[in-house]
Amino acid sequence: LERTFIAIKPDGVQRGLIAEIISRFERKGYKLVAIKLIVPSKEFAQTHYHDLKDRPFFNGLCDFLSSGPVLAMVWEGEGVIKYGRKLIGTTDPQKSEPGTIRGDLAVVVGRNIIHGSDGPETARNEIALWFEPSELVSYASNAEKWLYGVN
Ligand code: GTP
Ligand code: MG
Repeated sequence: LERTFIAIKPDGVQRGLIAEIISRFERKGYKLVAIKLIVPSKEFAQTHYHDLKDRPFFNGLCDFLSSGPVLAMVWEGEGVIKYGRKLIGTTDPQKSEPGTIRGDLAVVVGRNIIHGSDGPETARNEIALWFEPSELVSYASNAEKWLYGVN
């Protein structure tokens, strides 16, 4: 099954939205396979967002990501990379549909509370950046036969 990297940014943690956000992924049917709370260094944030290094907001973005605890997670499930981004909503909460995490819970692009990998290669790289292989827990979930209709 596919895996994606999801992080609740410092604003989401400070605003008490951890349970709300986890609940949305959990109820959808995705499986949590890794989780930890960490304060990333600025250098770590720069590595995480290296694709955006030439954007004017890069420095502020990395300061922000490293400004407090981030809840780093790996979620597993069929199509979780793409559909996880759908649950999250578009980058700018002003344009995110109601019903999405950013649409329901955030207001401005610089404080959009959550990150999700944007494709299979990014997901692989981000999981490897944030987690040691031993921190990823592979296990069978009883719900899977009901979620996927296989035995
Ligand atoms: P992530 O899941 O966090 O990677 O967001 P995304 O994939 O929806 O957007 P993208 O990777 O393009 O940008 C990464 C992050 O940079 C966004 O989540 C925003 O927090 C921030 N960002 C993107 N565009 C802008 C912008 O125009 N202004 C500001 N201030 N921040 C931006
Ligand atoms: Mg992105």
